[in-house]
Amino acid sequence: MILFFSGCGNSRFVAEQLASLTGDSLCQINPAETEPSVSLSDGEALGIVCPVYAWAVPRLVRDYIVRLSAKCKPSYCYLACTCGDNVGRTPEKLEKTMCSKGWHLDAAFSFVMPETYINLPGFSLDTREKENGKIAAVRQRLPYVAERIKQRAKVIDVVRGKMPRFNTFVMNALFYGAVITDRKFRVTDDCISCGLCEKVCPLHNVKLVDGHPKWFGNCTNCMACYHHCPKNAIHFGKATIGKGQYVFPNKP
Ligand SMILES: Cc1cc2nc3c(=O)[nH]c(=O)nc-3n(C[C@H](O)[C@H](O)[C@H](O)COP(=O)(O)O)c2cc1C
Repeated sequence: MILFFSGCGNSRFVAEQLASLTGDSLCQINPAETEPSVSLSDGEALGIVCPVYAWAVPRLVRDYIVRLSAKCKPSYCYLACTCGDNVGRTPEKLEKTMCSKGWHLDAAFSFVMPETYINLPGFSLDTREKENGKIAAVRQRLPYVAERIKQRAKVIDVVRGKMPRFNTFVMNALFYGAVITDRKFRVTDDCISCGLCEKVCPLHNVKLVDGHPKWFGNCTNCMACYHHCPKNAIHFGKATIGKGQYVFPNKP
């Protein structure tokens, strides 16, 4: 069983590919579910596929795992996380969550994919060429990772980057405390009231009010509303102006 969360499609793609290569079933994480549960057959693996936010699994995914119950303890748990650059000590932080449930993270794999976070000065999308290069490399890596999962390999195979401990255990808390908010989202006159922003928000936090999107405070800054908008009419303060959009699969 693969549980996945995705804002802009990268992690959805990885989850779908791993499901097809391993024969595992796929289930989208619904953060609103108060008592989620999985029923695993004997020896079935439990995979978590999601983006990395500030060098850790998104808090909503972590909280979901804390609430998750399984009739029998998963015999093999793995994380397949997507990132723009690197993941720091994401696996070790998730292992702490797993441990608190009496579970264990047996393996972790990272997939470097096109960047989606652009809400701060200095953060921008990859060039189209770089996006395509990253996706091509991920397509090549997927069969290898699926094979390792089928072998029940116990391995941490991730790109950690510089200062991984500091990023995961210090920067992550600062990021969630000071940066993640939906108060800066706004919509321009280019909005055509299509409602796509409402449809793609994985937290159901965007609603059209009088034909225009409004955000209701339960946001993880996945940027799905911004990147999917067909008119690029959604912005995060002034930080996103002129930075372009990306959704998997990127179109030529
Ligand atoms: C809020 C936020 C925080 C992010 N933090 C990181 C990070 O710490 N390291 C990194 O390499 N990429 C980071 N990224 C980039 C995403 O992890 C990456 O683009 C991911 O593939 C997006 O997955 P999705 O399309 O399934 O939402 C971040 C993106 C967002 C939206």
